[in-house]
Amino acid sequence: MNLERTKQTKAAITAVGGYVPDTILSNQDLEKMVDTNDAWITSRTGIKERRILKDPEKPTSFMAIEAAQDLIQSYHIDPSTIDLVIVATVTPDMPVAATAAYVASSIGATEAFGYDLSAACSGFLYGMSTCAAYINSGRYKKVLLIGADKMSSIVDYTDRTTCIIFGDGAGAVLFEPSPNEYGWEDEYFRSNGAERMSLRIKAGGSLYPTSTTTLENGWHNLFQEGKTVFKYAVSEMAEASEQILKRNDLTGKEINYLVPHQANKRIIDATAKRLGLEEEKVLMNISYYGNTTAATIPLLLNDNKLKFKKGDKLIFAAFGGGFTWGASYLTWAI
Ligand code: UT7
Repeated sequence: MNLERTKQTKAAITAVGGYVPDTILSNQDLEKMVDTNDAWITSRTGIKERRILKDPEKPTSFMAIEAAQDLIQSYHIDPSTIDLVIVATVTPDMPVAATAAYVASSIGATEAFGYDLSAACSGFLYGMSTCAAYINSGRYKKVLLIGADKMSSIVDYTDRTTCIIFGDGAGAVLFEPSPNEYGWEDEYFRSNGAERMSLRIKAGGSLYPTSTTTLENGWHNLFQEGKTVFKYAVSEMAEASEQILKRNDLTGKEINYLVPHQANKRIIDATAKRLGLEEEKVLMNISYYGNTTAATIPLLLNDNKLKFKKGDKLIFAAFGGGFTWGASYLTWAI
């Protein structure tokens, strides 16, 4: 559906916040933990360091709350006016009891309801669509979307093919009815469940409930067929982004920023090349945050928010477990 063709309330991002933990895990630190080296990690992924939430007593909600509070304070939002809190995450505090409900209560969003959204690295992208739809419909006026993941809680730090990639962090955006003609414009989303085993945590759900077997086999850790994921990510992220440009009669020249999920610099470069975008239009934080899963996109927005001008054309793109992927188009409204 091209939202431009409908006459609904336009949804805009009106506030942004973020949080990353202080502890840095560098490539040099990883060299001491697994058989790897800085040159390999840098050339194959573009990552130099990532942030880790060290304290075992602090879960994902800790970072989500910090990011939300950063947004609330920076933009002087009264939390009691927030209608809904959505947390996109694959590392909820607990399998049952929505992390978002706890976050909403903790930030003083006393009139809100909250639920989690699980779509791995595409979680924040899909979440933005959900928020935009609620605003478009007129049902809610202030929807807070947080992308937060404590990836260090599910990464196996003896597996060099995954532990070098991921980091912890959280980012938040507020969706409201647009104050002008700018906001959420269009989206192109797809998924392919046939590939679900290529990027997964196998156990702990209803397919393989926790047992001594699942624990002994390490099935509670994140696992990926790196090459398969890489191949799909390169072609699908670029394809989805190209579709969005075509559908909206845009060329790379007219785009101000590409805001891509940060899985691997080579995947991002391939997408940018396909769209014909110059390097300065491609936002990245992968070198210093790594892949923070649902937090990559909102952290990019937070780190670059002072750059954006009203009317700027932003293309979002993501690919992740499921497989899930897509691209969207938003014009900056504030
Ligand atoms: O956000 C969710 C989606 N996730 C992704 O998009 C990740 C997609 N995949 C990737 O980013 C890449 O596939 C990786 C970074 C995971 C791996 O890079 P690659 O270029 O695909 O490497 P590879 O798996 O083909 O491995 C090449 C070689 C292998 O050695 P041999 O068999 O050629 O002797 C690996 O064992 O590199 C070896 N290798 C390593 N060497 C040093 C794998 N991991 C490491 C490592 N350090 N950490």
